Amino acid sequence: MVIGSRKLDRALAAADEVRAAIPGAVVLGLENADATRKAPIVILSVPFEHTVSTVKGIRENLAPDQIVVSMGVPLATAIGDGAVRMLGIWQGSCAELVETLVPAGVAVVSAFQNVSAHRLRELDHPVECDVVVSGAALPRKRVMALCELVPGLRAVDGGPLANARIVEAMTALLIGLNVRYKVAEGIGLRFTGIPS
Ligand SMILES: NC(=O)c1ccc[n+]([C@@H]2O[C@H](COP(=O)([O-])OP(=O)(O)OC[C@H]3O[C@@H](n4cnc5c(N)ncnc54)[C@H](OP(=O)(O)O)[C@@H]3O)[C@@H](O)[C@H]2O)c1
Repeated sequence: MVIGSRKLDRALAAADEVRAAIPGAVVLGLENADATRKAPIVILSVPFEHTVSTVKGIRENLAPDQIVVSMGVPLATAIGDGAVRMLGIWQGSCAELVETLVPAGVAVVSAFQNVSAHRLRELDHPVECDVVVSGAALPRKRVMALCELVPGLRAVDGGPLANARIVEAMTALLIGLNVRYKVAEGIGLRFTGIPS
């Protein structure tokens, strides 16, 4: 695994943190552009308002057959409003915006928007959350397989990338639920009735 950052020292510190939490983990820290070049699957995790500049900064290093996973959510915090409201995005969603920016042949898949970072860091507890994965069929299946590596996460086949609009908006709903139910660690989603 490679962790990218705008600053090499932050990437190295993040890699050290992972190794301290998971002894024996094979993890590198690199600047974003170098991290992108080495990764078959690039997970883009920056605040929505920095999505365009970040993708423009890495796209020269993306090549056909790589996958970019968009987990960004266009929360209204990007314009100084609240996290329980969404921005209207001309392209439809953050994921579809990213798709307009990557080179031809690079697949964009939407996933992980509804998973709390706090829960992901609790390594001794399963995450207990469904991950709706949307995008073209083959890259979607590859990212669904990735989800299954995290105890408790279950990948749900979310169909075409346009469904990212729905999934991203559910994050604003979850943030409101966290406030109303006073669950700072983050409430998750589970779909029922999906055949195992
Ligand atoms: N936090 C959650 O629980 C959660 C859950 C689901 C989805 N999301 C979504 O995932 C995305 C990232 O969320 P987050 O909570 O991880 O955000 P964050 O902690 O605020 O930022 C993530 C990283 O973005 C980089 N960054 C910050 N400012 C930047 C800038 N001006 N230009 C380029 N990169 C910048 C920073 O990395 P460097 O400084 O190392 O470059 C930072 O560590 C958001 O769209 C959020 O809505 C978050």
